[in-house]
Amino acid sequence: MNISNTFGIPATADRYLEIREETELQALLAGGTLCNAPLLLLGGGSNMVFAHHFPGTILHLENKGIRLVEELCSGDDVFVEAAAGEVWDDFVQHCIAHEWHGLENLTAIPGTVGASPVQNVGAYGVEAKDVIHSVRTFEVATGRERIFMNEECRFAYRDSIFKGELKDRYIVWSVTFRLRRTFQPDVRYKALSDALAAAGMEHPTAQQLSEAIAKVRWSKLPRPEEKGSAGSFFKNPVVSESQYRKLLSEYPDMVAYPVAEGYKLAAGWLIEHAGWKGRSLGRCGVYERQALVLVNLGGCTGQEVVALADAVTADVERRFGVTLQKEAIII
Ligand code: EPU
Repeated sequence: MNISNTFGIPATADRYLEIREETELQALLAGGTLCNAPLLLLGGGSNMVFAHHFPGTILHLENKGIRLVEELCSGDDVFVEAAAGEVWDDFVQHCIAHEWHGLENLTAIPGTVGASPVQNVGAYGVEAKDVIHSVRTFEVATGRERIFMNEECRFAYRDSIFKGELKDRYIVWSVTFRLRRTFQPDVRYKALSDALAAAGMEHPTAQQLSEAIAKVRWSKLPRPEEKGSAGSFFKNPVVSESQYRKLLSEYPDMVAYPVAEGYKLAAGWLIEHAGWKGRSLGRCGVYERQALVLVNLGGCTGQEVVALADAVTADVERRFGVTLQKEAIII
């Protein structure tokens, strides 16, 4: 049993199943055995920390396929359906090569297509919700197919109905994206526009934009093959305007962005200024180039990750009065 996870933590479960064909999944659901025990849907394992044995079934989708949905395409709109088991970045690169645009800013995110609506993955100013048209699923309890249109997915920052109310009740089988034939680079994110300007590329091609994104990304985040991690371990916390103003008066260089509910604080900044950047506890460390990321320093266990996360959370709370929420899922 090889339960893959980018943190590189050995994981165990009562049962581990890989599914490639729709008929296999339907037969499994018809048997009803998935309802008898806890179920965990595993994509690339890029957002999970295994701290305990999983007392149920882990289902890993390995279905493949990317197709143009001709019947929906019209004018500049291109609709592309990708199987849940496709590797996310392979899909992004496939779209760029076919001149289907809109996914460039989501280059080099680890994980699979199936996880993208669940997590509403996002980076450099773009979120999956901006490009997802619909999500095709199967209900675990009945095996019935159900298509969720974008609005039904209740997308929010790193969140969706599949992580909330309907958690583990539907299996995402494929996702249809609404892309464009015309390339309109989205370079609102400052670190990105700075990197492009420095490279003399104010008007990048889609390929150049994707390469620039990968460069910015890998300058801050550890490559999974070099150092185990779950990407951003915490979410960026949102605080009220009054709490933001109070913090800002004390910490004038604090990084924050206005959002509808108040202000989103850069958790990396908070963790760094609570003194944790580059520090470690046991075999788990706070990454020296991006404090939002916890890394496996070699042979780290899930419990060590949780211990470090708790220590960081307690210090940030003590210092700033802000409670960090985990983005990573602890099993
Ligand atoms: N910062 C610090 N110290 C740090 C890290 C960050 O002061 O150690 C400050 C910097 O001023 C920086 C700002 O925080 O300018 C924001 O940092 P960054 O651009 O690296 O983005 P982030 O808010 O830390 C989020 C996502 C990332 C995504 C990037 C780019 C979350 C939880 N994380 O990080 O997503 O790649 O923006 O869009 O929203 C992921 O979810 O796994 C992930 C990597």
